[in-house]
Amino acid sequence: MSAPDLRVAVGDLLLANPVLAASGTFGYGLELADLCAPEALGAVVTKGLSPAPRAGAPMPRIAETSSGMLNAIGLENIGVEAFCSDKLPELCRLGVVVVVNVFGESPRDYVHVIERCEAEDGIAAYELNVSCPNVSSGGMEFGHDPDLLRTLTSLCRRATEKPLWVKLSPNAPNLVETARAAVDGGADTLSLINTIRAMAIDPWRRRPELARTFGGLSGPAILPIALRMVHEVHRELPDVPLVGLGGIESGLDVVRFLLAGASAVQVGTATFRRPGAMVEILDELAEYCRQTGVHELSELTGALEV
Ligand SMILES: Cc1cc2nc3c(=O)[nH]c(=O)nc-3n(C[C@H](O)[C@H](O)[C@H](O)COP(=O)(O)O)c2cc1C
Repeated sequence: MSAPDLRVAVGDLLLANPVLAASGTFGYGLELADLCAPEALGAVVTKGLSPAPRAGAPMPRIAETSSGMLNAIGLENIGVEAFCSDKLPELCRLGVVVVVNVFGESPRDYVHVIERCEAEDGIAAYELNVSCPNVSSGGMEFGHDPDLLRTLTSLCRRATEKPLWVKLSPNAPNLVETARAAVDGGADTLSLINTIRAMAIDPWRRRPELARTFGGLSGPAILPIALRMVHEVHRELPDVPLVGLGGIESGLDVVRFLLAGASAVQVGTATFRRPGAMVEILDELAEYCRQTGVHELSELTGALEV
């Protein structure tokens, strides 16, 4: 029997398959290449890039939890300049589809990263991480305030004609309102979800496990929450392409996100436990399609029967 066709369209962006590496969990796309070929994935979403390099948060900054992990990496990264000169050429040589994840402390930072990337070939799309503090507004996350998010997205929209994805924060008070604001600002696609604010405590030391006390929870523990959020946004904004993520570990998890309304997915924490997880997930997805007679994955998107 011929191999199932796993190609998907995320808005105008055509991808060879729907499994993407999630930002911050696959480096810049090259570090794990011996264990998981980045060119075999639908795309690689880079570690979040800021205008200048950042050292990140003090250690310890990750902790294991039941069915997940906490991180407070503090957005450590090499900066957009080093990415463009040291990483992007090799990603292009390998034929990797690159989505640049962007963050900053001000709208100007976001626009700076995009404008610098626009000078290069080989970037397929941008994903705005809006779950970081907006210093000029007193530390609130951009993704928590629909007006701020609309303005930020529209400024970034003016800086590029490439697909612009906005990655929504699950911590925002009103998910659907936030999603609408991003689309009104010019987002083509929404990614959801980022990590959920949480903490872990070491009872022997009577201290938080993370140096920064709070961190973001990821992994299987958050999958049902992410599914609910994808479903809710798809129900309210059925024409907006969605990229679903949060706790995906298997091909069946991918199917769950597609049924909830996603056109593609990203895999993060699973890669820490099994560096080859994304390739296995693709095999499992193909097997599901064979067993159930699915010819095109678009048949599954939003096909949940409720
Ligand atoms: C160690 C670590 C670093 C992350 N760094 C980023 C980042 O730089 N930008 C971003 O948008 N999301 C970042 N994330 C969030 C993930 O991309 C993803 O949204 C989240 O982990 C949920 O997916 P998962 O449960 O499959 O890991 C990070 C997650 C982890 C675990």
